[in-house]
Amino acid sequence: MIKLTVNGQPRDVDVSGDTPLLWVLRDSLGLTGTKFGCGMSLCGACTVHVEGAPTRACITPVESVAGKAITTIEGLSSDRSHPVQKAWMEIDVPQCGYCQSGQIMSAAALLEQNPKPSDADIDAAMSGNICRCGTYPRIRKAIHKAAAIAAGQTGREGG
Ligand code: FES
Ligand code: FES
Repeated sequence: MIKLTVNGQPRDVDVSGDTPLLWVLRDSLGLTGTKFGCGMSLCGACTVHVEGAPTRACITPVESVAGKAITTIEGLSSDRSHPVQKAWMEIDVPQCGYCQSGQIMSAAALLEQNPKPSDADIDAAMSGNICRCGTYPRIRKAIHKAAAIAAGQTGREGG
């Protein structure tokens, strides 16, 4: 039995220690917001936070995160009130949506580290998150917006 803390809740899972965290989240715990894209740490679709750091769940053995704080898209907020979620809805970022939970988790981690990122900061932090629909311009705009929302500067778009 492996003891995890997922979205603030203690969870025990009966899986082999080398099972990827992504499968534990999706199959054992039913948290299907985190997506499978490549399985090789190349696309970012599976991004979650481990102790606040963006982490590719597809290549993370579950035993390596036992006892650490894991946050998935379902745990970012209980009511879509996280600034990144608000900005994403306001800018209407997604197209097909498949990559978007990973994008949002990477963006949220970036803003934790850097509350007012430049375009270059955003491009560097988000470069591992692939969007086959090409929503990158809206993602960048939404991250600026989220930074403004978080700073209490709602009512104007970041540039
Ligand atoms: S599914 Fe994990 S990075 Fe692509
Ligand atoms: S919105 Fe379709 S892959 Fe990003």
